[in-house]
Amino acid sequence: DINIRIFILHIYHFLLPRAAKSGMVLSEQPYDIPDQQEDDDMKLWGGRFEKETNAMVDAFNACIGFGSRLYEQDILGSIAHATMLGEENIIPPDDAKKIVEGLKGILADAREGKIQWSTEAEDIHMNVETILIQRIGEAGKRLHTGRSRNDQCVLDTRMYARQSCVETRALLDELIETLLTIAQDHLNTIMPGYTHLQKAQPVTLAHYMMAYVQMFLRDRKRFQYAYDAANVMPLGSGALAATTYPLNRQRVAELLDFPAITQNSLDGVSDRDFLLDYLSAASLCMMHLSRFCEELILWNSSEFHFVEMDDAFSTGSSIMPQKKNPDVAELLRGKTGRVYGDLFSLLTVMKGIPLAYNKDMQEDKEPFFDARDTLLKSLPVFTAMLRTMTFREDVMEKGAAGGFTNATDCADYLTKKGVPFRDAHRVVGELVNYCIKADAALMDLSLEELKSFHPAFEQDVFEAISLKTCVEGRCIPGGPAPSAVQSSIDEARVQLKL
Ligand code: ARG
Repeated sequence: DINIRIFILHIYHFLLPRAAKSGMVLSEQPYDIPDQQEDDDMKLWGGRFEKETNAMVDAFNACIGFGSRLYEQDILGSIAHATMLGEENIIPPDDAKKIVEGLKGILADAREGKIQWSTEAEDIHMNVETILIQRIGEAGKRLHTGRSRNDQCVLDTRMYARQSCVETRALLDELIETLLTIAQDHLNTIMPGYTHLQKAQPVTLAHYMMAYVQMFLRDRKRFQYAYDAANVMPLGSGALAATTYPLNRQRVAELLDFPAITQNSLDGVSDRDFLLDYLSAASLCMMHLSRFCEELILWNSSEFHFVEMDDAFSTGSSIMPQKKNPDVAELLRGKTGRVYGDLFSLLTVMKGIPLAYNKDMQEDKEPFFDARDTLLKSLPVFTAMLRTMTFREDVMEKGAAGGFTNATDCADYLTKKGVPFRDAHRVVGELVNYCIKADAALMDLSLEELKSFHPAFEQDVFEAISLKTCVEGRCIPGGPAPSAVQSSIDEARVQLKL
């Protein structure tokens, strides 16, 4: 209905921007659409233009809505750039001092939430520069000497990505520590191991937890790699072809604690691999969390009942009074899709971009921020859920006793008595079939019954197929025997210190 459409358009273009100005909060709005007549401020790049920017274009083009979170990095980057410009006499040292003081003031005010970022100034870079010029006048106009927003925005993003890697790794470490504690406490807690979600062979809860530790240790290395990838200083790349000013790039790198500078100005402004490194590490890490969650959801079901999630980490149903649902684990599993989406967004944005900077690249920030925020929220809630969970050792051990998890060991027993493994496999298969019909476990059979299947069975078979023997016999490195798992716990603790 055309009338409804016109009505909606009217709300969108006329009423909403005014409501936003009058203080009604409309945070769901993707961007503010400013009034045309208020947009008569001169743009920092306005010299070449005869017309005002269309209000819709201003709103569409601006990224301050999400880019403002880079204010800290942007201002610190500008302080380093201005300091170097002054030291090298590229701008008058007195102006450099005024710029640095001015920027410090803006930083302090921004930290206190006193700064109102504006859509008209488009992004964080021009917002800061505009405010600086308003505050300190002429000297402020020298800040952007030998620099472009193209290298400036990568600098800010690299600094933010670097910090995000540190934060992510710290949370991963807490998760790994928690898993190591559970493993240490459950070296002898026997539980069934599965293939095809069918009971297979007995393992221990410690061994199970240490499998996830291996995954998270690999994630940790991937975030270290993403950190190193981000830790390269791009200023000096300029818009794309560097600059004729004798910038001291090493000095800027040193001031901002970067161990290296980028080696090609075209690549310097158009490389977003470091964000993709973070996003792929984040995707793998979420995949690991998701698998773990799936496992815990199963274990928490009344069918398994290997674990009991704490009340504080479970939720109820609005209709079924008896329900206690593992929502946190399910939501974590769901959020994995969202992080994969973030990775694919940026991969897709980057796949068709010719060198060097193109505005498409402004689309790098939201998926990265979203994945980072999601991961930084997911890791601690998962760790806390794990810490508060009760492990039902009795149910686990009972579970391992059923399902013929010792059948392989029974075949190995015969093999060690000289029976070829293929024959032993067949004999035990027939035994299992017999037990299924008799509703018994291998352990329940008498020696006579066993001997009727093969004469090599002797009294020591019962010891050989006990769950404890099955687990303790698997003591080669990487196995579930308590001694082997203890070594892998010790090794993980060494890795955590690296
Ligand atoms: N706001 C842009 C971004 O975040 C930086 C500006 C890039 N330069 C330009 N000429 N539009 O990617």
